[in-house]
Parts: sequence; C-alpha cells; structure tokens
Amino acid sequence: MQHKDFIEIHDYSATEVMQLFELAKDMKASPQKYREALKGQTLAMIFEKSSTRTRVSFEVGMYQLGGHALFLSARDIQLGRGEPIVDTARVLSRYVDGIMARTFAHKTVTDLADFATVPVINGLTDLSHPCQAMTDYFTAWEKFGSLKGRRIAYIGDGNNMAHSLMFGASKVGMTIAVATPGAYAPEPTVVGEAQADADAAGTKVIVTRSIDEAVKDADIVETDVWASMGQEGEADKRRRDFSGWIVDKRVMSLASREAIFMHCLPAHRGEEVASEVIDSEQSVIFDEAENRLHIQKAIMYTLMKDRKR
Ligand code: CP
Ligand code: NVA
Repeated sequence: MQHKDFIEIHDYSATEVMQLFELAKDMKASPQKYREALKGQTLAMIFEKSSTRTRVSFEVGMYQLGGHALFLSARDIQLGRGEPIVDTARVLSRYVDGIMARTFAHKTVTDLADFATVPVINGLTDLSHPCQAMTDYFTAWEKFGSLKGRRIAYIGDGNNMAHSLMFGASKVGMTIAVATPGAYAPEPTVVGEAQADADAAGTKVIVTRSIDEAVKDADIVETDVWASMGQEGEADKRRRDFSGWIVDKRVMSLASREAIFMHCLPAHRGEEVASEVIDSEQSVIFDEAENRLHIQKAIMYTLMKDRKR
C-alpha cells in the first residue's frame, strides 16, 4: 500500500480498505504479535479541539505497538500563537515519526500533510472524520461479515461524520442514504465525489430530507450530534431546526430487523437519539469506541512500519 498519509477514505481503494480491516482484525485478535511493531517511534498528536476516544485510542495504540505518543494541545504549542503550519510540519518531522491532528479547518491537516516528511493522519476536521468512519464500517463488517449490497442510513446533520461515511460506503460495497433537514445537507462537493466513487463501485449515494425514506430496510442506522465542536454558539438554533430528527424506536422499526445502531460519541440522549435506542441491544456504540484502537493501530502500522529510526 503506497500512501504517505491518511487524510480521507476517498484516497484509499476498496482493496486497501479491506487490507486495513484484515490487519485490524489480526491486531485485535493477537495484539502481542505487534508489541514491538513501532518500537522506538513517536507519534505527535495535535489537538485544536477536545477529545476522549481519539486521544486515548491513539496514545494507547502507539504504546501497544511499542512506540510513544505526545499530546500537543494547539493552545500550548507555538501553532496556537501563530507559528505557520509549514514550519510546525517541518520541525515536527525532525523529531517524530508520524503526526495525528484534530483541527477546525481541513486545510490545516492537508497543509501538515503537504509539508511534513512523516505520515499525517486526520483525527477529525470540520470536513471529515475518516478514522471514525473506517471504524464504523469495520465494526459492521465484524457483525455482518460481507457488507456488499447492504445499506447504511445516516440521519441528522450533514457534517464531518456524514461526509466520511459517504466516502467509505462505496469502498465496502454499501449504499448510503443520508437524511438531513434542508439547511443541513452535506457539502455538495463531497456528495459529488462520493457519488462518482459509488457509480464506479456500482453502489448508491442517496441524499434526502426524509428520515423514513433513508432508513427503510437499512442494516446500519447512524446519527451524530446536531451541533459539532466549534458550533456551540448555534446549539439553540440547531435544537429548534432539528426538532423531530430523533432516532427513536419508530425510526429503528423501519430499518431491517437485524439493523444495528451506531453513533461515534459523544451523544446527547433525547436529542439526536433516544435512550431506548442508544442503550438497546441494537446499539454497538462501545464496540465502535473500542475498534477505534484497532483500526488506528492498523493505519499507524501501515504508514509508519518502514520508517528507519
Ligand atoms: N468519536 C470521537 O472522535 O470521539 P472523541 O471526540 O472523544 O475523540
Ligand atoms: N461531528 C462531531 C463528531 C465528534 C466526534 C464533531 O465534530 O464534534
């Protein structure tokens, strides 16, 4: 697999996505085999936004691979005081073997990737959250076996999660239906690219304003918060605009009988999802959270294993 970075699932082929799934599966089953896989290597983790799962799973993942992770809050490093991203990328490349970054602007991560000589991994931007979408499809693959011909319904805000799930669906052979209120549709450029990938793969991307249309016969029902990080000031307006957009038992009853419920977390029970769904047997939220670790170990190992220390 010839990639320097992991920025979007879109950049990876269906075969490469499946190779990462197989590797993550092996790492999950036999973690001891990989105990020294990245021995002596260091991952820098830049965070402009809060995190529980991403921070902990990357740090623990590096430790389990025999390496080390550095937590760098953007507030504390010179980046937060205006040091150019180009210089930050070049300086960090002299010290560390990989960089994971969670940023507001997507361009910050692509600039890091352009100027760093070491691998850069997208740990969430305003545009996308590929590590989470990879994890979600991996989790579904564990539950269902082959995902080909299955359907995922994403209900809610057309945000970073919606975008990455759209990019990922065609790679695993799934149709994706995204239902949002009119003003919260996913980015047209992302829809266009995902549509082109789907056409090539023989899958479908459906964008609708109807929850019922999206969720009909879905094998996965997924949602996410109405106000993402950085949108806290719009939270009240969004609560009003998204009124009625809750994934509850009625919504789940329209999906396939064996459907699973997913949410990247953190969740707001009673807003985007009802407790009766997120805390039900159909919910796989904690498997998703755990699988962040395994998928990210597979990504880090793939990108960093050939680096010479
Ligand atoms: N799902 C996810 O990325 O969680 P964190 O914001 O806690 O990292
Ligand atoms: N859409 C959410 C995902 C959090 C993991 C956000 O960006 O805040």
